[in-house]
Amino acid sequence: MYNYTKIDESKVEYVEIAPASELPNGERLFVEIGGKMIVIFNIAGQFFSIADVCSHDDGPVGEGTLEGYNITCPRHGAQFDVRTGKVMQMPAVVDIPAYPVQVRDGNIFLGIPRE
Ligand code: FES
Repeated sequence: MYNYTKIDESKVEYVEIAPASELPNGERLFVEIGGKMIVIFNIAGQFFSIADVCSHDDGPVGEGTLEGYNITCPRHGAQFDVRTGKVMQMPAVVDIPAYPVQVRDGNIFLGIPRE
C-alpha cells in the first residue's frame, strides 16, 4: 500500500517545504526528504505529491509530461495518477507512493509516513 494520502494522520509526519507562492499553478517542485526523491505538483490550485522514482525501472517519473492527473514516465512511458500513485499504464505494474500535501498559513507541508 503506497497511497499515503489515505492513511491515518497520526502515522504521518508533516514537513514544511516552501511558501505556496513558490509553487504556482501548473508548476512542480522536486524535494529530497530522508533520502526519498519526491515531486509536488500544483494542478489548478490543488497540491499533489508522488515519489520521483518510477516503479518500472527507477526512472525520474516526476519529470514526465502531465495530462490531467496522469503523468507519463519519460523513460519508457508508464503512467501514474498523481493523486494516488496508482499505475495507469504499462510497462509499470506496481503503484508508486503518493503523499498527502497540506497548505497552512500559506506554506506547503508534505506528509511523510513515520517509519
Ligand atoms: S522507468 Fe518509468 S517506464 Fe520505465
